[in-house]
Amino acid sequence: MQKVALDLIRNAMEAMASCPRGEVAVDRFTVAHKDPGISADIADRLFQPFVTTKRHGMGVGLSICRTIIESHGGHIVAQAKPGGSAILQFTAPFVELSEGTA
Ligand SMILES: Nc1ncnc2c1ncn2[C@@H]1O[C@H](COP(=O)(O)OP(=O)(O)OP(=O)(O)O)[C@@H](O)[C@H]1O
Ligand SMILES: [Mg+2]
Repeated sequence: MQKVALDLIRNAMEAMASCPRGEVAVDRFTVAHKDPGISADIADRLFQPFVTTKRHGMGVGLSICRTIIESHGGHIVAQAKPGGSAILQFTAPFVELSEGTA
């Protein structure tokens, strides 16, 4: 899945290589899974730095993701569903890309 996302974005960058200004939009990227859901303890703080439930976690992944997405005018949200599932979703309209970004 990581390869698919990377290849689609890289192909778009390569297609626009000769354009003076390139923009790529990601119109909703969603990752969802069932058990276990998002821990209730931290559900309202997921995007804050250094919030983690993992023994060796730094708790910075989602914080950095939000910074990146919002810096491009996008939005990232997490939804915890009753019964234990999680949905993480972002949109990133018109992200300016240059080589090395992806
Ligand atoms: N898909 C998910 N399902 C359930 N919980 C999640 C999910 N994604 C994030 N979380 C919860 O949010 C916390 C914060 O995630 P984040 O990615 O910011 O940090 P981390 O994964 O703990 O550490 P790091 O990414 O810095 O290695 C996680 O520790 C986990 O408890
Ligand atoms: Mg993480």
